[in-house]
Amino acid sequence: MKLISTNICKTSDIGVNNNLFGGIMLQWLDESGGVLASELCGSPNMITLKMNEVVFKHPVKVKEHIRIYGAVVNVGNTSILLCLEARRFDFVSNTETPVCTTKILFVQIDENGKPVRISEESRKRIKALQTECNN
Ligand SMILES: CC(C)(COP(=O)(O)OP(=O)(O)OC[C@H]1O[C@@H](n2cnc3c(N)ncnc32)[C@H](O)[C@@H]1OP(=O)(O)O)[C@@H](O)C(=O)NCCC(=O)NCCS
Repeated sequence: MKLISTNICKTSDIGVNNNLFGGIMLQWLDESGGVLASELCGSPNMITLKMNEVVFKHPVKVKEHIRIYGAVVNVGNTSILLCLEARRFDFVSNTETPVCTTKILFVQIDENGKPVRISEESRKRIKALQTECNN
């Protein structure tokens, strides 16, 4: 998978139970997916149509670094389905622990907000990142 972003859990990101607020994690996943979809499709006009189930299995605490990785699951006519994985980075052991995984479907749109076909040139770029996603 490709590293897209690294995010620091700040005090302002903490919810009422002293863990990272889930909505912040969803934002990081959505933004990172949007960045990767745009790079691959060669267009800033990628819009989120669907996000799969997200299970928050491990808490994230303040000061922890969360790395978001992405890969391509499938490319349609106007859409691209990405697999996104958030991993907590441990500075002491220099290891990463998966925190949550999901799939997000992005659609390429035109200036009127209508879906447009992903170009053939982009499809070649996308093939290299295609992978299995078990979410
Ligand atoms: C994204 C949007 C432009 C798509 O328009 P649409 O008329 O629904 O598009 P279509 O029915 O032609 O589908 C477009 C693509 O999405 C896929 N799609 C549509 N609904 C889907 C669903 N429920 N599940 C999976 N894929 C879906 C279609 O299969 C198609 O993919 P393909 O071209 O690769 O085969 C429109 O739904 C929209 O503007 N949604 C709001 C997006 C938004 O604001 N997101 C921000 C978060 S609020």
